[in-house]
Amino acid sequence: MDGTLQVKTTAHPETDALTVDALEGLSQPQKTLSPKWLYDHTGSALFERITQLPEYYPTRTEAGILRDNATALAGLVPNGGALVELGSGASVKTRTLLDAGAHFGAYVPIDISRDFLFETAEDLARRYSALTITPVVADFTGPVALPPTLAQTPKVGFFPGSTIGNLVPERAQALLAGARNWDGIEAFILGADMVKDTHDLIAAYDDAQGVTAQFISNILVRLNREAGADFDLSAFAYRASWDPELARIDMALVSLRDQSVTLAGEVFAFHDQEPIHVSAARKYTPQSLALLAHAAGWEVATRHRDADDRFSVVVLAPRD
Ligand code: TRP
Repeated sequence: MDGTLQVKTTAHPETDALTVDALEGLSQPQKTLSPKWLYDHTGSALFERITQLPEYYPTRTEAGILRDNATALAGLVPNGGALVELGSGASVKTRTLLDAGAHFGAYVPIDISRDFLFETAEDLARRYSALTITPVVADFTGPVALPPTLAQTPKVGFFPGSTIGNLVPERAQALLAGARNWDGIEAFILGADMVKDTHDLIAAYDDAQGVTAQFISNILVRLNREAGADFDLSAFAYRASWDPELARIDMALVSLRDQSVTLAGEVFAFHDQEPIHVSAARKYTPQSLALLAHAAGWEVATRHRDADDRFSVVVLAPRD
């Protein structure tokens, strides 16, 4: 590619952003596609199925920890205070805290998916009529502006799902450091998946039914449909691998032969076995969690966990 990136303007800014992002990612020496493009309508439905797979233990393990400790966790929010959730989605797990939090003044769900966010907010407003629900449309991987009306309200942050592990370490730290600076922040509840048996970890990201493979491959389907690419889906295979050094699962689409693919007029050459990196899921130890928290201005006050220590819900307290 020479000089500036030129992309034909369409009436769909999302599509343009997808195309620009894909052109940039595929031009890297190690090809990448950003996981944020996984979650179109099909992708969101596939992810919902992932959370229910027998191999995918994190969702149900974390839900159990939240249920077992609901009173203590909800008790972190002072009377009339606010629970602020990053990447709230359908706010399913949150209900465990809201059910135990009759004293909450406000719930602030933050999500990038506007329609989904407002639908969920309306549904919650019906269920929890005494609670003020203030949805915020924002990408939590960047700085988040909270509602000014809540500036004086004491707050507790909530970031479940081990989504923290899908961010590169610098972004993960920046997110926690950002929340540390919110007006009135008192504590932060963080869900984190733990390092464990490699076989169990890989199975959670490469299930027998192939739902995760379909979820990841959906990004190529999108590029073909929305960015005019010509990926041959049968010439790429999904692969999940464990990197012990970085303590993370890497999710990639691997080219099954030498081939070239055209996207927005650019030709990209792939050699046999060349991967496109799509996502990573970092796993933690109590020590690595403590380090991450400390670097972002917090300390781990409590670590709630399941009997097998597969998943942790940690309570972070501001450190001085
Ligand atoms: N936060 C989830 C996790 O890391 C997200 C996730 C689950 C995911 N399965 C995935 C992301 C497959 C990309 C691909 O466990």
